[in-house]
Amino acid sequence: MTVARKINEIMTRSSWIRKMFEEGARLKAVHGAANVFDFSLGNPSLPPPEKFNRILRDTVDACGLEDHCYMPQAGYPQVCASIAAYLTEEQGPDITCDEIIMTCGAAGALNVIFKTLLDPGDEVLTPVPCFVEYRFYADNHGGVLKTVNTRPDFTLDIDALKDAITAKTKAVLINSPNNPTGQIYSKTSLDELGRLIEQKSREFGHIIYLVADEPYRKIVFDGIRVPSIFRSYRESIIATSYSKDISIPGERIGFAAVNPAASFKNELMAGMTLSNRILGFVNAPALMQRVVACMQGISVDIDAYKRKRDLLCDGLVDAGYAFTKPSGAFYLFPQTPIADDVAFVKDLQQELILVVPGSGFSGPGHFRVAFCVEDETIVNALPGFRKVMQKYK
Ligand SMILES: Cc1ncc(COP(=O)(O)O)c(C=O)c1O
Repeated sequence: MTVARKINEIMTRSSWIRKMFEEGARLKAVHGAANVFDFSLGNPSLPPPEKFNRILRDTVDACGLEDHCYMPQAGYPQVCASIAAYLTEEQGPDITCDEIIMTCGAAGALNVIFKTLLDPGDEVLTPVPCFVEYRFYADNHGGVLKTVNTRPDFTLDIDALKDAITAKTKAVLINSPNNPTGQIYSKTSLDELGRLIEQKSREFGHIIYLVADEPYRKIVFDGIRVPSIFRSYRESIIATSYSKDISIPGERIGFAAVNPAASFKNELMAGMTLSNRILGFVNAPALMQRVVACMQGISVDIDAYKRKRDLLCDGLVDAGYAFTKPSGAFYLFPQTPIADDVAFVKDLQQELILVVPGSGFSGPGHFRVAFCVEDETIVNALPGFRKVMQKYK
């Protein structure tokens, strides 16, 4: 075998996901892409803010040779400083450039964090449903992803977390607003989680970190704000990016921020900087660092995502679907009327509707609808959603 056993195993295990995408591609080839309602991908559907294009052009015009060279592996100090100033305003504690490291997206940040924290066999505990890639990111660095259920409305179940944290837990990983559920964890639940992790750290005699994956922080509806984990737990690290809030996932730009109050902040920052280098990222893309430094506090038109959420939620309620309305991100995670979510998703494919089975997110009995699509895709898909639900009523 040419391909490593582990990679081969992952490819085999996730073959149903691949088959689903292949079926989607086949349907688009047969019926034309415009006639297939594709809700399967979390690719932003709104253009980046006009300011992004302007800053990008200006930055390119101003570039000299030195602007394309290697740099400090944590990123340009002036870029980290402008992000730190914005984070201080957004999240409360006084954050400086010494607590920021620029990364290749939130995915790069999570890999940098796990490489820095995990010894072989260490566990990363995450509430489910969760982003599919977490398992791989932990495994990439010798860690093991452990999961714990959330409550039926996808809020944190602190009692379940209490039972799930073990002597091997090195980090608890949360994602709020959540992919795939759109749930945002309240300040009260984060405070409770912080107290729990602190108590467990004492019990097991080592620091358990709280890692917050927050690429959807700015995509929030109904006036809700995402509370800062830095205010709920001292030993905490944020991983985030500009992929979703300014619609530039292909540019691979984000950052990690370590709580200024963290006990071993300098060691963490040094370890993460080294990890950024030896993972082969070396540093985050130079041009994009300079651009996002000027994009602090700016996002795409969130009202447009809210409109899409409401269109979809109203239409699906009307068609008989049950779900918790998402408060953020651009995903809806309805229940399937039958236990077999893969079979239900295949039924939807018959109506040319492409969604992802909840099993893929460790949330069986559900399916994920990414509503980052044109409004008319939602409107035109609703009769198909209704028809499939009627089969089971
Ligand atoms: C929850 C979550 N975390 C991380 C990522 C990766 O984001 P990035 O493009 O910033 O690496 C995604 C992308 O879809 C995501 O949904």
